[in-house]
Amino acid sequence: MHDFLRQLPKVELHLHIEGSLEPELMFALAQRNNIDLPYASAQEAKEAYDFNDLQAFLDLYFQGMNVLRHEEDFYDLAMDYFHRARREGVVHVDMHFDPQAHLQRGVPLEVVMGGLLKAKQEAEESMDFSVGMIMAFLRDRPAEEALHVLEQAAPYWKFIDAIGLDSAERDHPPSEFKTLFARAKEIGLVRVAHAGEEGPADYIIQALDLLGVERIDHGVRCLENPDLVERLRREQVVLTVCPLSNVCLKVVDDLREHPLPTLLQKGLNVTISSDDPAYFGGGMLANHVACADAFGWSEDVFVQLTRNAIDAAFVSADRRADLL
Ligand code: ADE
Ligand code: ZN
Repeated sequence: MHDFLRQLPKVELHLHIEGSLEPELMFALAQRNNIDLPYASAQEAKEAYDFNDLQAFLDLYFQGMNVLRHEEDFYDLAMDYFHRARREGVVHVDMHFDPQAHLQRGVPLEVVMGGLLKAKQEAEESMDFSVGMIMAFLRDRPAEEALHVLEQAAPYWKFIDAIGLDSAERDHPPSEFKTLFARAKEIGLVRVAHAGEEGPADYIIQALDLLGVERIDHGVRCLENPDLVERLRREQVVLTVCPLSNVCLKVVDDLREHPLPTLLQKGLNVTISSDDPAYFGGGMLANHVACADAFGWSEDVFVQLTRNAIDAAFVSADRRADLL
């Protein structure tokens, strides 16, 4: 089964590129940019990755990305992930990135976009790999700031597939971002949002009804509302579920208790992603292997999950046909 999962051409719909920053690269970039890290070694950093909830992770996630200062840092970050993903049999990724987290530190949007777009272009030209771009907005920062950043990004709209909503979910409902998402729709961008990870099922309903999202990132707490589950099934809304992330952030206690098998059994349009592979114990392959071990799924289940991801991926019709 593990060989099958390695060679299965996998499609990842939910990946934060800043969360793919491995401690080894963090140390290399810290040295290149003359930045002190709060860890003595890459090993010590890994040992610090022990989280009680989403906020505990976010604190280290924002701290880690402080080593990203120049265009080539963003390029190296993305290329490092693309190569690793390709070696694990990933053929496409829809990549979230957090412009506000960099602007806040004085890193201009041009630096972020320049590095990421260069890496995307190079990967697509040289390694049978495609990349979708999701400009994500931080829900624990003011909605007006997000709107301003979206307008500032006008020169890049043509390179972006979608906008997303991420960061601390509790007490930051989707309803606060109605204007932002309406503007993204006007621009012609697809919308996705994290909902129902730590937040209640109602946030999934808000994301669908008030933000007009096409996909829900995580969404596992939908099971708390049977009417919502029935709606997600009827409308075949894609859920980008991240099993190892949910274990690491204590959304579930143990992978064997993860709601994935129930979501599937209820007929929902489920996909598997890694979220922040450098922090949560591995990428797409590790997530697939962990599901195989925990749930005893057959090859057919993984083929179906991959088909779901291919159908929903931000790719051209030609590329989608290649992936099928
Ligand atoms: N940003 C990076 N990873 C995230 C997650 N799992 N949930 C919300 N925001 C995030
Ligand atoms: Zn996420």
